[in-house]
Amino acid sequence: MRILVASPIFPATLKKLREEHDVVDAFNAPEDELKSHIADREVLVFRSGVNITGDVMACAPNLSLLIRAGSGLDNLDMTYVQEHDLKLVRVPGPGARAVAELAFAFMLALARQVPLADRLTREGRWAKHEISGYLLADKTLGIYGAGSIGTQVGQMGAAWGMRVIGCVEHPSPARAASLGEQGIHLADSRELLTTSDFLSIHVPLQDSTRNLIDAGAIAQMKPGAFLINLARGGVVDEEALHDALKEGHLGGAGMDVHKDEGEGRISPLADLSNVILTPHMGAGTVDSQRRIGERILEIIASHRLEEPADSSGRKA
Ligand code: MLT
Repeated sequence: MRILVASPIFPATLKKLREEHDVVDAFNAPEDELKSHIADREVLVFRSGVNITGDVMACAPNLSLLIRAGSGLDNLDMTYVQEHDLKLVRVPGPGARAVAELAFAFMLALARQVPLADRLTREGRWAKHEISGYLLADKTLGIYGAGSIGTQVGQMGAAWGMRVIGCVEHPSPARAASLGEQGIHLADSRELLTTSDFLSIHVPLQDSTRNLIDAGAIAQMKPGAFLINLARGGVVDEEALHDALKEGHLGGAGMDVHKDEGEGRISPLADLSNVILTPHMGAGTVDSQRRIGERILEIIASHRLEEPADSSGRKA
């Protein structure tokens, strides 16, 4: 099949694809470049970091399969996909655990000021009696968006002895019961904001969640609380967060996703020492990317079988 790989994927998967198919790669290319690369392609594989617009897809008359090698759909024109009846397959599972574990790593690192302790020790400062921190045990963990990733963070929190509360878009008694079985108590967003010592964000970026955590929401947060965002940058108002951290209202923040992402782009939070900044690497474990790569191969193989043969009986 003729495949465009528009994002970095697991190297062994790319190698295997090249052995079996006609593959073009254009990692995180701008729209104009994508338009030329996609023109004769049947399959598009992509992650975050690249914008798959309707104009890009319109340049590919033979495009029949889109593989989202991960979860989020905020970088894909879904209206175009639906109107043109394109087959879209996501692979959200393998990255979910990796994102959840990084969220937990942020909580531990923020609670014990690990980045500051590391920096001071490297500088020759022995700050043993200056640096203190908090236990996670007995603290309240708020999961804003208790879906697949959020639920896994919540389960880790429960195992750590935290009181875990979570909110969902469509609460119901059944949802409350299934979350309850996993140690997560269903709550509303107000309770989450006002009572969480650690608030971890796990909602997709869409019109209803853009700037969800704005100045008003941050003002409601418990003084000294920690905010963790591994969802999407646009969900948190970074300027408002900066102000709240600088004024000492919040204790710290861990941000894997940012309003502006990419080489050379510096977050407005970069001048604060109680903030952890990472480059949208939540799903980036070897284990997760290997599994995603295996799924990509399976999805393309089964799509190839479904494709009609051309007049010579040859599969595309
Ligand atoms: C995702 O939505 O799966 C993550 O953003 C990971 C990625 O695509 O790089």
